[in-house]
Amino acid sequence: MAVAKKVVARVLALREQIQHHNDLYYGDDAPAVSDAEYDALVRELADLEHAHPELVVADSPTQVPGAAAGSTFAEITHIVPMLSLDNAFSLDDLHAWHERIAKLVDEPVTYVTEPKMDGLAISVLYEDGRYVRAATRGDGRVGEDVTENVRTIADVPERLRASNVPERLEVRGEVYMSLRAFTALNEAQAAAGKPLVVNPRNGAAGSLRQKDASITAARALSLFCYQLGALEGGPKLSSHRQTLDWLIELGFAVNPNILMHDTIESVHAECTSLEARRHALGYEIDGAVVKVDRLDLRAQMGSTSKAPRWAIAYKFPPEERTTLLLDIHVSIGRTGRATPFAMLEPVFVGGVTVSTATLHNEDEVARRDVRPGDTVTVRRAGDVIPEVVGPVLSKRPKKSTQWVFPTECPNCGHPLIRAEGEANHRCINLDCPARKWSRIVHFAGRGAMDIEGMGDERVGQLVDAGLIVDPADIYSLTTEQLVAMPRLGDKSARALVDAIEASKQRPLWRVLVGLGIKHVGPSAAQAMATSLRSLDAIFAAPLDALVAIEGVGPIIAESLASWFTDERNVAFIEKLRAAGVNFDAPPADDDAAVYLAPTLAGLTFVLTGTMEHYTREQATAAIEARGAKVTGSVSKKTSYVVAGDSPGTKLAKAESLEVAILDEAAFAALLDD
Ligand code: IVH
Repeated sequence: MAVAKKVVARVLALREQIQHHNDLYYGDDAPAVSDAEYDALVRELADLEHAHPELVVADSPTQVPGAAAGSTFAEITHIVPMLSLDNAFSLDDLHAWHERIAKLVDEPVTYVTEPKMDGLAISVLYEDGRYVRAATRGDGRVGEDVTENVRTIADVPERLRASNVPERLEVRGEVYMSLRAFTALNEAQAAAGKPLVVNPRNGAAGSLRQKDASITAARALSLFCYQLGALEGGPKLSSHRQTLDWLIELGFAVNPNILMHDTIESVHAECTSLEARRHALGYEIDGAVVKVDRLDLRAQMGSTSKAPRWAIAYKFPPEERTTLLLDIHVSIGRTGRATPFAMLEPVFVGGVTVSTATLHNEDEVARRDVRPGDTVTVRRAGDVIPEVVGPVLSKRPKKSTQWVFPTECPNCGHPLIRAEGEANHRCINLDCPARKWSRIVHFAGRGAMDIEGMGDERVGQLVDAGLIVDPADIYSLTTEQLVAMPRLGDKSARALVDAIEASKQRPLWRVLVGLGIKHVGPSAAQAMATSLRSLDAIFAAPLDALVAIEGVGPIIAESLASWFTDERNVAFIEKLRAAGVNFDAPPADDDAAVYLAPTLAGLTFVLTGTMEHYTREQATAAIEARGAKVTGSVSKKTSYVVAGDSPGTKLAKAESLEVAILDEAAFAALLDD
């Protein structure tokens, strides 16, 4: 049965969003959404893929734990893949997991609970008792080489203590920053006038990824080990507890808060108890990890491509705190949207200090009935976006009155209008200074033209100095003008000019996103760029031609068309064209693949192992560009299994089902046909 276009579009959009958040979280150590929101996206995607298994592809975020390795460090391919954990978001989920376990094995199961450290997974390798190397998890298959940085961690022995050491031992654990080290780091940052680190996890990640290991050494990181990877030689281990005890003997640090349980009720009680104790531990945890103790039972249960069945992460519900709501202000976005937000008395919640929180729109303020002067409950799902849950009515001041949405824009004084049927108020003045600023920030931002060094503050500075009025003005900035700006040295000014120049060659879809047209996000922009190939063609296309593009609905098409009827927007486009910004797709060979003839249409591929000349992503892109699809598991319907080096069990499955197997050379030949 064909899957509805809407579902396909949603799946693609979810994958893109999740990938974007993965990049921010793992690549830049700067998450932009809360864990809860991130988890909700992944769950929605997993549910859709479950309902439509034909949509599953090998590189879907549901199939790949974590994110791909960054570019600064050398790559290390893990000897055994580093999997992730499935999550339980409630005690009910935990019991459901226990039921699944009970169906997988006939015997009673002993569980082990451990605090879920909020740090970074790491793999450390020893050969003949000597420290050899360390790698981050990366995408689970390939991580980053952080050998020198990890060597500086006091909990990582240079030599193993035991007399009879294994030939090869890979230990896995979590690198974390204690609260004490975190406070010390931020004191040092503040003293040096440097930005503060938002939470210990980012502190650990940032410290570990320093190019200069002496900086890592100064950051006092710690490591708790919780698992073995590869093991050659050494004792015969039969349980998790035994493994941990052996690791302690070898000189590793193992969390002292690890308990054994004969019943799921006891596990449940410990999860609740750990939550109550979480702030007294001296380091941040975001849940409890529950594992099956016996290693033979673990082997029976096995793993999915993402996570073992024998363990689960019980995630604590979001933390809540109360604080004073000082006032409600309104900010103006690039489309003129007026968003109310709470000004809060700073409060430490979920590992960061929160002083503002969005209230979304008028109805949301009314729904929560929060008023300036209220004591409010603030929540942060262990992570990023703070939320005002509601007022503590018993503490409401007697004279309090309901908050009323302002009628005028706080920046330009023009009316704020809420159109019928719309949730949002908008500033109708196209020249509103706040709109200008946020249009430029959006254009230069990571999701659009990605101009490094052109962030919120820099844009504000340049707008205030009258040097830029609209995003296209960025292209007339000179080194001399930039050098004259406060807090911008010679070198940074030159780097910024280079970044601006480089942005002219960004792919068409980024330009399209950068224009800031309502509803035109990355998925719709990519779909239009892929199908129409130039900005001019996109704006010349009749509505029905736009709507016919998969991933572009009537709302997007109409928004695009109406944007283009404003002559100021047409002038803006011409200014970008005159500045030399690329308006065509595809400028590079990579993108050219998108327009290949569908020589493999209707075929289904499964990828396994590593190839010399293609990454997973490149192979998938090459296959999809030719009209075929890539799925995660082998079945009778699979047309080809492409097997690289160290293939997984998919190869054996392909052999047993007599599915055609291609090696890298045959695969390359097929693509060239
Ligand atoms: S066991 C096969 N134990 O949680 C999975 N992981 O959400 C092996 N984590 O990638 C992981 N504390 O970075 C395990 N006590 C603990 C943990 C723990 C934190 C992290 C780890 C993992 C992530 C999964």
